[in-house]
Amino acid sequence: MQVVMTEAAEVFITAVTLQALSNRPVYTSQWDTREPNNMAHINLTRQRPPADAVRRLPPEGGEKARGGPSLSQEADAVLVAPASADFMAKLVQGRADDLLSLMCLARPIERCPLLIAPAMNREMWAHPATQRNAAQLRADGTTLLGPDAGDQACGEIGDGRMLEPETLAEELIAFFQPKRLAGKRVLITAGPTFEAIDPVRGITNRSSGKMGFALARAAREAGAQVTLVAGPVALPTPRGVMRTDVQSAQQMQDAVLPVAGAHDVFIATAAVADWRPAAPHEHKIKKDGSGRPPAIEMVENPDILAAVARLPKPPYCVGFAAESHDLLVHAQAKRLRKGVPLIAGNLGPATFGQDDNTLLLVDAQGHRELPTASKLQLARELVREIAERLKTFK
Ligand code: CTP
Repeated sequence: MQVVMTEAAEVFITAVTLQALSNRPVYTSQWDTREPNNMAHINLTRQRPPADAVRRLPPEGGEKARGGPSLSQEADAVLVAPASADFMAKLVQGRADDLLSLMCLARPIERCPLLIAPAMNREMWAHPATQRNAAQLRADGTTLLGPDAGDQACGEIGDGRMLEPETLAEELIAFFQPKRLAGKRVLITAGPTFEAIDPVRGITNRSSGKMGFALARAAREAGAQVTLVAGPVALPTPRGVMRTDVQSAQQMQDAVLPVAGAHDVFIATAAVADWRPAAPHEHKIKKDGSGRPPAIEMVENPDILAAVARLPKPPYCVGFAAESHDLLVHAQAKRLRKGVPLIAGNLGPATFGQDDNTLLLVDAQGHRELPTASKLQLARELVREIAERLKTFK
């Protein structure tokens, strides 16, 4: 990462701090004498030879070595964060009176994308001039990240907050993910369900929802419009994902079935409770002094995945199989029983709550393991596998 600061930025924070954090010298001026050709605004977004390149003998392999590691990095993207209203106006006009604006103008526009994270007072953001500038920047190919809404430095509340730095980092990563599901609608269930026994007790399970939330993020990164139906979990909603919270299996089915047909893909990661108390008590069940626990009659819950797969025109359905043993055999049987084209099997007790997982993909053609990796990495791989299969799906 190479940091470039404007004069205004240096009023808030010193270049020394950002040098220490980025572990690289920070650039603040277009007249920086460290650059041999004095053209920091050009050099910073290009692959360029090191300062002593002209004095060095060419290494063996001559020409070939030119793209090798002896060259300093070229920028993959320029991210301006925070981007003030003034800086946005400057970009729109193509003005170039400081290093950052010069660099934005001089970057190879086809290869080095520009992303900006607007941050300003809500009135400034809402002003027609800023809105006009934002629209023009988009038309010029700039990606606007945010702004967010919320508390502002000035004490007001509204649109114009810069996205949180972690969110910006996630958005930057998302920007570079291949858009394999562009234009597709993806519906995902995640987490456990909670089946009430009485107002204070219920039956649930140890599903953390992490795999489903990672898939929601990965599908959205791949360009899909994502709807996430989540059981009771305390995970933050991935950015850009539409979320509906539910408690019970019945509520999950009610949230899924009416909309499933309008989606291209349905991924059922939820650990849906198989049974629920037939009639939850209205009041807390009290001990009756007999020493006998109350008899709780149970009924089977609807199978949401199987119901979606049975729709007249179902989306491409992906089931998960959480097993404790004989994963392949159970996953194959489950795929046929649920009538779905693809099952991702995993060993439930080993993965619940963990950040890592291992998946066994089972479809009509055979099976393939996705080796142990973070749930996000696996989610991205699964999205790739789904996108491939979607090409030949009805
Ligand atoms: N599933 C569902 N609705 C249910 C039960 C399961 O949509 N009522 C989905 C899960 O989200 C998962 C797949 O079906 O994608 C398999 O879930 P799993 O709990 O492994 O299987 P069960 O159908 O419960 O079968 P068993 O209990 O025999 O393992």
